Amino acid sequence: MKIRTGTLTQLKEKGTRFSCLTSYDALTAGIFDQAGIEVLLVGDSAGNVVLGYDTTVPVTLDQMLHFGKAVKEATSNALVVVDMPFGSYEISSDQALASAIRIMKETGADAVKLEGARADAVKRVVDAGIPVMGHLGFTPQSVNQLSGFKVQGRGDSAKALIEDAKNLEAAGAFAIVLEMIPAKLASDLSQELSIPTIGIGAGAGCDGQILVWTDFAGLSDRSPKFAKKYLDLRAELSRAANSYLEDVRSGRFPGEEHSFS
Ligand code: KIV
Repeated sequence: MKIRTGTLTQLKEKGTRFSCLTSYDALTAGIFDQAGIEVLLVGDSAGNVVLGYDTTVPVTLDQMLHFGKAVKEATSNALVVVDMPFGSYEISSDQALASAIRIMKETGADAVKLEGARADAVKRVVDAGIPVMGHLGFTPQSVNQLSGFKVQGRGDSAKALIEDAKNLEAAGAFAIVLEMIPAKLASDLSQELSIPTIGIGAGAGCDGQILVWTDFAGLSDRSPKFAKKYLDLRAELSRAANSYLEDVRSGRFPGEEHSFS
């Protein structure tokens, strides 16, 4: 069954939690889609994961179009959301709309995501018929302003975060990612908002959860405290590469079964 933005609202209303993973290519998108993961986020974390950058700041709109198209091609059911990269929506609502239109037309995505308290941009894009996912708490594109990877919304700043979330909801966002905020704040917000919340480092009280796929698969060299490793793919790949190397050196590969007569 094709997952739509409304499906996530229905799941929230029923109290059924949903799962989201990032994906940047057709291979993983096909696997996660067939496993039934409800949302595939073509995150600009591709900058760290695929392109080797230290932050998501250098990621361009053209790079996101490339990743988004590959993921969409391989996905039948999951809701595909493409991140709007830094610099593609901050200048004006017009710029946000122009970038969102490119993403929708050139990737075939179902929705876009943008970071921060930008209700004006969200409203402009939503009014044009494009579903928008918000993203509050730790917003990686602002890592330089936030002075590093730090939990947000502690103490007095919780009030502003609640206000920002309500403004995004009023602007028409269909869901909001809450990244690295206290579990109690995320849980209270999830109760208060009628749109679904999606947590990453925000505790168990959110309506859905998201992980960067290389963290969940144990492929990242460093993985954050909030990520759970469901397998140790880094060790498995390393072991496989060593076995291959030894087989080639010793002449064990290719065998007769891999050869043509
Ligand atoms: O880019 C990304 O992967 C994200 C998730 C961490 C939510 O925005």
